[in-house]
Amino acid sequence: MSAFDNLKSQLALAPKTWLVTGAAGFIGSNLVEALLKLDQNVVGLDSFITGHQRNLDEVASLVTPAQWARFRFIRGDIRNLQDCRDACNGVDYVLHQAALGSVPRSIEDPITTNEHNISGFMSMLVAARDAKVARFVYAASSSTYGDHPDLPKVEDKIGNPLSPYAVTKLVNELYARVFAQTYGFKAIGLRYFNIFGPRQDPNGAYAAVIPKWIASLIAGNPVYINGDGETSRDFCYVANAVQANLLAATTANEEAIGQVYNVAVGDRTTLNGLYFHLRDNLASRYPALQDAQPVYRDFRAGDVRHSQAAIDKAQTLLGYQPSHRIRDGLAEAMAWYLANQ
Ligand SMILES: NC(=O)c1ccc[n+]([C@@H]2O[C@H](COP(=O)([O-])OP(=O)(O)OC[C@H]3O[C@@H](n4cnc5c(N)ncnc54)[C@H](O)[C@@H]3O)[C@@H](O)[C@H]2O)c1
Repeated sequence: MSAFDNLKSQLALAPKTWLVTGAAGFIGSNLVEALLKLDQNVVGLDSFITGHQRNLDEVASLVTPAQWARFRFIRGDIRNLQDCRDACNGVDYVLHQAALGSVPRSIEDPITTNEHNISGFMSMLVAARDAKVARFVYAASSSTYGDHPDLPKVEDKIGNPLSPYAVTKLVNELYARVFAQTYGFKAIGLRYFNIFGPRQDPNGAYAAVIPKWIASLIAGNPVYINGDGETSRDFCYVANAVQANLLAATTANEEAIGQVYNVAVGDRTTLNGLYFHLRDNLASRYPALQDAQPVYRDFRAGDVRHSQAAIDKAQTLLGYQPSHRIRDGLAEAMAWYLANQ
């Protein structure tokens, strides 16, 4: 039995109360869905700055009425300490996802990214500490590897951040560590590597590459690749991120607490490889795509050239075993992408 299967049986016997910040966003709503399906009590906090009510509505449609009744939503802002305190009240585990994502957004407006990702993070730390939650798991980022050249990325070898966004995610790790040293606070950081899956927003200037490209291909619009297309990423299906969060929140392994972990698959896919995989998959439904080609343009400032994770640490200390590689995740998510254009 895997560590995750074991955990699911334990949670069935003794349900807990979880706070998911960023609950109306992509990863947050997937966490809410998974927890409700495990009959847990869930509090969601979101300001809807990038999240959507429709994501919560979709979760409601995917769980039973009894499970949905175990969800309490707070519309609030993590930059407001009282909102964080209200949300942390009576909670066992915090899964902190709320932040402003996107490297380009942070380059255009570093002040706003800083406010959400650093001041907001600090408010959540203080509220969670004062509420004496058992564990605080937070969304860190592979962008923290910055300009470090080694591949695959190993947790203790980071370079210089390449964007304001990357700075904020590094600062989160530093504050979590200082809270552990100073207050005995139990935090775990999860450095996500290009997570994708249902409910990831395909719209807007800062959309992630997979939902954006699928939407463009289906609409017959050009797909732009920044650079030569040989930039590579360790694309990770959201079910793997959900698994990592639940394992991190509940691990009884003392050695595992206070650490940061890569959350990825350990594979590397180039943007060209991704483009042609998506195009070929969609071409059976949209024959006009058969010979479609991407449009290459300049490299984008702040982007890391290659990204691939070593996942040994999460495997060893948390019992993490990714259930989906990129193709499995794309196959599973395709129905959602097609239905949500
Ligand atoms: N998606 C990825 O590939 C990826 C990679 C690395 C790290 N991350 C991190 O994972 C987390 C979740 O990302 P996502 O892809 O689900 O993004 P998302 O934008 O879909 O979700 C973020 C959610 O947080 C909410 N939020 C933002 N600021 C808030 C505030 N001040 N108060 C309350 N709610 C607020 C937004 O409304 C949104 O619903 C973020 O911390 C992000 O930085 C994501």
